[in-house]
Amino acid sequence: MPWVSLIGFMCSGKSSTGRMLARQLGWPHYDTDQMIVERTGRSIDEIFQGPGEEEFRRLEHKMVEDLPPERDLVLSTGGGLVQNDRTMEILAVQGPIFWLRVAEADVLERCQRPWAARRPLLDGVADLKERIKRLMAEREPLYRKYGAPIPGGFAHPREAGKHILEILRQQEDFRAYFGLTDGRG
Ligand code: S3P
Repeated sequence: MPWVSLIGFMCSGKSSTGRMLARQLGWPHYDTDQMIVERTGRSIDEIFQGPGEEEFRRLEHKMVEDLPPERDLVLSTGGGLVQNDRTMEILAVQGPIFWLRVAEADVLERCQRPWAARRPLLDGVADLKERIKRLMAEREPLYRKYGAPIPGGFAHPREAGKHILEILRQQEDFRAYFGLTDGRG
């Protein structure tokens, strides 16, 4: 029944935390960016350079629409998915949404790591700090609106996953779904 969805800014750890949480729950993990690449056979960069951002947003929505509503799953999303209300409404109906909240300075540092994936919205930008600041200011109200905040700064995505799991275990509908009773959970 439930999907557990992760939203948040680029480089906030949604993919790695989602993978860990899915493992901890024993549920499948889906990642909208990865699904788009698999479905289209094109990289995110190619989609942004070619058909453009609007097409990418359409694809994001399509990926979410095509997920099995009846299955338990963990979903990691791209940082801009939150801008589409229709997509977010699906996530909200399907289950809890967590916002991986990271500070601007951490985003700047993490996105510049040599092994970080390329992000077309940050690529070749002269003032990266300014771009991140502007995008964050636009999106933060949306992350806040849709997601329960999870603080960043966990040493490992496994710890962030555990933290989310603990929150889920406190939730009554989640406990009922898993047949958890007090003292056993
Ligand atoms: C985007 C974030 C990226 C990816 C695309 C656009 C955004 O995902 O979906 O580059 O608009 O913030 P991550 O949040 O995983 O970096």
